[in-house]
Amino acid sequence: MLTFLVVVGVVVGGAYIYRHVVVKGKRCTSKAKLHGKTVIVTGSNTGIGKTTAIDLAKRGARVILACRSKQRGEAALEEVKRESGSSQVVFMQMDLGSLKSVRSFAENFLKTETRLDILINNAGVYMQGRTEDGLGMMFGVNHIGHFLLTNLLLDRLKECEPSRVVNVSSVGHNFGKIDFDCLNTHKALGLGTSFTAVAQVYCDSKLCNVLFTHELAQRLQGTKVTCYTLHPGAINSELARNTSSVLQTLLIPVTAFFFKNTIQGAQTTLHCALQEGIEPLNGHYFSNCTVREVYAKAKDDAAAKKLWELSERLCGLA
Ligand SMILES: NC(=O)c1ccc[n+]([C@@H]2O[C@H](COP(=O)([O-])OP(=O)(O)OC[C@H]3O[C@@H](n4cnc5c(N)ncnc54)[C@H](OP(=O)(O)O)[C@@H]3O)[C@@H](O)[C@H]2O)c1
Ligand SMILES: *[C@@H]1O[C@H](CO)[C@@H](O)[C@H](O)[C@H]1NC(C)=O
Ligand SMILES: *[C@@H]1O[C@H](CO)[C@@H](O)[C@H](O)[C@H]1NC(C)=O
Ligand SMILES: *[C@@H]1O[C@H](CO)[C@@H](O)[C@H](O)[C@H]1NC(C)=O
Repeated sequence: MLTFLVVVGVVVGGAYIYRHVVVKGKRCTSKAKLHGKTVIVTGSNTGIGKTTAIDLAKRGARVILACRSKQRGEAALEEVKRESGSSQVVFMQMDLGSLKSVRSFAENFLKTETRLDILINNAGVYMQGRTEDGLGMMFGVNHIGHFLLTNLLLDRLKECEPSRVVNVSSVGHNFGKIDFDCLNTHKALGLGTSFTAVAQVYCDSKLCNVLFTHELAQRLQGTKVTCYTLHPGAINSELARNTSSVLQTLLIPVTAFFFKNTIQGAQTTLHCALQEGIEPLNGHYFSNCTVREVYAKAKDDAAAKKLWELSERLCGLA
């Protein structure tokens, strides 16, 4: 009997510690205040984008919620204002799956706002399909939309230096590869719709994020604009909403125990956006609020340059 109780005690205690230490992860410990600073968070109507926006608003930043749906964006605007107690929060419509929409967002933003101190490229999708411009959905939204946005806002970031760009990637980038032939012919990272094909394209799009951060860091040398990319952790968010209902059901018990909530999930983004003194780590990849080494393919200068040039052509910047 005693042995049984000890075993139960160890299992329950172990599970508790696992959930509250390992899964929860580190917190962003920066005490930075952001009065007078302006921040953009893409995809901030839900998930970790929303909790990131609330935290930054609490610190006094003027926060621009860049979201594709007017209805969801305006609902989030009320919530972010209420939760943060700040009135310095603005909703501005932007669909990353439309180059036209990204351009008009940037134009509108540059006209109506005077500063940009932190750009957080957070939005992401997990589904196949095509964007308005005929690009593969995950390549178009997770990569090209943010590529164009970042480039259109770069001069404003330089004017406001020291400033930062933060790219939310994923640990999945480790499984990514970039098929330049497929990109050149189909403007997509892959065309399959099977479970594994979709997962592969998601990982590929996240490798694009890491390579971009690498190339951007090189291009920004000599300025005080720095950029970071990161894995936020496995988070209980809406990301899986367009996967099969079987998978969503299977995920419920897993997410309940092994996944972070959206406040815990925002901590590494906040670390990259706020932590004092990380500028020497310009272009690096973070996870659990800690800088991490990446595989050679994620810091491949030639691939990063090739992807940059292809991206310029695809969004009409070249
Ligand atoms: N959840 C995880 O475990 C996990 C792990 C690693 C990395 N990540 C990354 O973390 C980031 C945030 O994801 P999340 O977990 O918070 O997911 P989420 O709850 O699904 O939120 C994603 C956000 O992106 C927005 N978005 C999607 N397509 C868009 C478009 N075309 N234009 C503008 N916004 C668009 C969504 O807007 P709508 O609501 O209008 O669709 C939503 O606000 C993503 O980049 C994701 O890849 C997540
Ligand atoms: C995150 O870091 C904390 C503190 O160092 C550690 O206890 C925890 O296990 C880490 N979690 C993961 C998922 O690496
Ligand atoms: C973020 O990723 C996007 C898309 O991959 C890229 O266009 C942009 O330059 C990146 N920015 C930074 C700072 O890494
Ligand atoms: C994705 O899922 C959301 C929420 O369940 C739904 O409203 C939307 O129509 C889906 N989109 C596609 C293309 O399946």
